[in-house]
Amino acid sequence: MCGIIGVCQNNSKIKIGKIVFDALSRLEYRGYDSVGIATITENGILLEKDAGKIGDVGKKLKFEQIEGNTAIGHSRWATHGPPSQKNSHPHSSMSDRVVIVHNGIIENYLELRERYTGKGYVFKSQTDTEIIPHFLEEELKNGKNMEQAILQLTSEIKGTYALVITHTDEPDKIYALRKDNPLVLGISNDGNYCASDIPAFLPYTKEVIIMKDQELAILEPHRYTIKKLPSLTVIDRKPHTVTWTPEAAQKGGFPHYMLKEIHEQQKVLSFQLATQNDIFGKIAEMVNDAEKVILVAAGTAYYASLNAYHTFPEYGKKVTIPAIAAEWDTVKPLVDDNTLILAVSQSGETLDTMKAIKDARERNAKVASIVNVTGSSLTTISDEVAYIHAGPEIGVAATKTYSAQSYAVWRVAHALANINGTLDKNEMKLFSRTINEVPQIVQKTVTAAEAQARDLAGWFKNKHSAFYLGRGVSHITALEGALKMKEISYIHAEAYPAGESKHGPIALIQPDYPVVFSIPDDRHRNKMIGSVQEMKARGATTIGIVDEYDNEMKSILDHAFEIPTGYGKFLTPITYNIPQQLLAYYTSVSVGANPDMPRNLAKSVTVE
Ligand code: G6P
Repeated sequence: MCGIIGVCQNNSKIKIGKIVFDALSRLEYRGYDSVGIATITENGILLEKDAGKIGDVGKKLKFEQIEGNTAIGHSRWATHGPPSQKNSHPHSSMSDRVVIVHNGIIENYLELRERYTGKGYVFKSQTDTEIIPHFLEEELKNGKNMEQAILQLTSEIKGTYALVITHTDEPDKIYALRKDNPLVLGISNDGNYCASDIPAFLPYTKEVIIMKDQELAILEPHRYTIKKLPSLTVIDRKPHTVTWTPEAAQKGGFPHYMLKEIHEQQKVLSFQLATQNDIFGKIAEMVNDAEKVILVAAGTAYYASLNAYHTFPEYGKKVTIPAIAAEWDTVKPLVDDNTLILAVSQSGETLDTMKAIKDARERNAKVASIVNVTGSSLTTISDEVAYIHAGPEIGVAATKTYSAQSYAVWRVAHALANINGTLDKNEMKLFSRTINEVPQIVQKTVTAAEAQARDLAGWFKNKHSAFYLGRGVSHITALEGALKMKEISYIHAEAYPAGESKHGPIALIQPDYPVVFSIPDDRHRNKMIGSVQEMKARGATTIGIVDEYDNEMKSILDHAFEIPTGYGKFLTPITYNIPQQLLAYYTSVSVGANPDMPRNLAKSVTVE
């Protein structure tokens, strides 16, 4: 949801417009319908913006030629007002004294807009954001300094925001503040940065500070100050060094980030395996100590969290309730001090997830979370955090982070089975072996499935609708497969537990209708034969993901992707999903879409 960047530099080697342009390109995954930049020059504010893709707009408006020491930039994901030049950020005040970029939503903007229209302010856009520069200008006119003006603003605006502000009275300063939307600082000798996400400034610095809610950062080329709002007391916070490399946020020779991220999965899982152990045991103890576990997450992260729903009851004998973060209201009456919340989030910033977790804390629940971004908001309000260590994921459709989140959940389940002795010796041995070998199985599957997925995509691209079916834990695989297909290729795809498909969905089956089955060699396998036959009997084209030695299944299916044999019982939502990722990717490319930037979607959803 919108990418924002602010730069205060003392480095004349690189033009500030290039820094902002590159940063916005790296943030484009957050929003990509409009872009803009503002710098403070001797003659006042220079503002360039338009609707369109960052590359096109940046070239047209010659972003890279723009000079200066202070600049702010924005890539927009429209909420209030369609993509247009006028609705693009930055937004400036009426007399061009203040200019700002915003990520979030100002809920009481209509009321404020009326107030400021009454004072003679003319609004150029339909956005909720434009109220902010006018508000600040009015406060400055009344004799306040910028800090006091910001304080007044935060006492009156309702909603969510990460805001970056600069003004002509202090051309070398940037003010950046947040409430419920992400904001990070990058600190270096050549200048200081603020942005929605770390990759924005990664080529210039790895020294990072994660801003918390109700904090204000004042950036200058040589220093930064962080203050608490509303007291304005100074907070002493030192940067930490991130391990992410700038290359990790580039395509590395692949045509799309998504394909690169699919290929990175072995590395990511191996790293998680090598670097973390204790945390999964700790979280398993928390599961054991709780009366019940409630899973909270959104989107793909929700599907990853469902791995706990399918394993904690069996391996930990624990009541486990899945909750979509946006539906928190339904489960919250169950939350008390005997509840453990397991939150899963790549960004650690998803607003629905954050709101649910804040509420759970107020109800005295314990919180364990599985997160990618170090120091993100969710990590600051969790009792324990397991990092998935997936590095930056730029493709909007989650791939490597889904695998890494699922892996982390399975490792908690593994620790649970260990502590509780719920599996016999041989099964436990196989479980441990699968945990250790999954990174290699994933790599083998990527290699084996890629060409086949590319070929099948040529057929899939002409379909309008598809089903994804699985039983038990493979229902997760079906959910994730259908989500990936619909979000990047725009082909309608729906997942069902295979046994449920007879209760309605089967009515849609016609000759050549695609049905994708996930069929590991687990306790559900035999029932899946029936599910495949039912669909075949009605003319469906059946595509299965199966154990490589499952010849019987392969002989029934029209197309089969093979997964290395012997790992049928554990972690299959990771391995059996790999062909689905590739199928979705190549179908997206075949329909002429951009898999990295699916229409209407954003990587990190920071609105309710
Ligand atoms: C958006 C993204 C999904 C992601 C979901 C939750 O919808 O497009 O890929 O799974 O948000 O994000 P989170 O950062 O909490 O994992």
